[in-house]
Amino acid sequence: MTTQKHFSHVNGKMLVENIPLSDIAKQVGTPFYCYSNTAISENYKDYQQAFSTVLPDQDTLICYAVKANGNQAVLSTLAKLGSGADVVSIGEIRRARAAGIPANKIVYSGVAKVEPEIEYALNEGIFQFNVESEPELELISQVATRLNKEAAIAFRINPDVCANTHAKISTGKAENKFGVPISKARIAYNRAASLPNIKVQGVDVHIGSQLTQLAPFEEAYKRIAQLIIDLRSDGHNISVVDIGGGLGITYNDEVIPSKQAYASIAKKQLGHLNCKIIIEPGRSLLGNAGILVSSVVYVKTGEERQFLILDAGMNDMIRPSMYEAHHEIVAVDQSQTDLKTYDVVGPVCETGDTFAKARQVHESKSGDLIAIMSCGAYGAVMASTYNTRMLAPEIMVKGSDFAVVRARPSYDEIINADSVPSWV
Ligand code: LLP
Repeated sequence: MTTQKHFSHVNGKMLVENIPLSDIAKQVGTPFYCYSNTAISENYKDYQQAFSTVLPDQDTLICYAVKANGNQAVLSTLAKLGSGADVVSIGEIRRARAAGIPANKIVYSGVAKVEPEIEYALNEGIFQFNVESEPELELISQVATRLNKEAAIAFRINPDVCANTHAKISTGKAENKFGVPISKARIAYNRAASLPNIKVQGVDVHIGSQLTQLAPFEEAYKRIAQLIIDLRSDGHNISVVDIGGGLGITYNDEVIPSKQAYASIAKKQLGHLNCKIIIEPGRSLLGNAGILVSSVVYVKTGEERQFLILDAGMNDMIRPSMYEAHHEIVAVDQSQTDLKTYDVVGPVCETGDTFAKARQVHESKSGDLIAIMSCGAYGAVMASTYNTRMLAPEIMVKGSDFAVVRARPSYDEIINADSVPSWV
């Protein structure tokens, strides 16, 4: 059984929306990522509805965090629904613009923006820079002055709140590299107001990813609300509050607060400030809208355990190796077999290339299809060609249609990207 809507077993065979996964596998080969367009749209609309119900008079903008999955088909789907984008590089600005996301719906986060990126963003006319440090602010001011443009900014504030998530994706503690410490924020804003071609307009916060509780959000927003009051009393015109991303998803048995409950926290802590609210969800829009499909290459009996060796590896989906992340692993065809206990591993030459240990999966044999669930976010975007393995293609399904939205590259493309100097 899976908990992902639009990915379900019917008569023992897994469908994505109306299409049997085995049909797609026959046409494109494995491994491949598969996204449900309907799931993405529904997740987006859920956010929209939650915020418009809870905060009906508030101007809210959803800026999808492109880093979660930057495929053009994903971004175009969200652009058509009215989404903006949270970007962290010039590449992501280009991706968002190419997919039709208007520049005035783009917020630019990112720890170390460099001059060409700032220039590009200013020329595009993005909505806001989420500034991470005072040196970055100085550079934005210099570039904006040179271009005779005005840069609208918010500082990303580090509120020193524990997000209770994996250490590698927790960002809002004082020890993390992100943002301006809340204790120094008023000085930073005063500095910003004194710099040429800078328009102070907002406050931004993002405390981490895969949060499963509302309390850390609430604590962060409470601190930000007080800061906004202080900044206004210092004479700054704060009209935007960007409350970040971070709402988790169910990978295993996590119980995630509803989007409505999340919106209620925003209302309770920030609703009275009459700011435009920006949210930057990534994982909660895409995570459960996608899976990674692979084939069993071999079933190997070790000394103590059985290994299900897949044709997908850590280069295709790194989350279990990198964050000890749990992903459900299910046989695509469950029509007749019993459950067996396997270590599910990839073909890459590292012990860390393990998707799951001692996991119950329907008994499988070489050639059978296996789905690694909840891979729509931080899956394909984090893939590499390590071991000179080709990037897995991406497929999007809508109803009874499917399309390859990023093709599998050829070996020539990978190898010909290198060149050999004449002096070698
Ligand atoms: N806004 C900012 C400034 C961020 O840094 C992030 C994620 C988001 C929004 C979106 O957060 P979400 O809604 O997706 O939680 N690769 C890791 C996740 C890294 C998240 C980084 N920042 C993983 O696979 O778990």
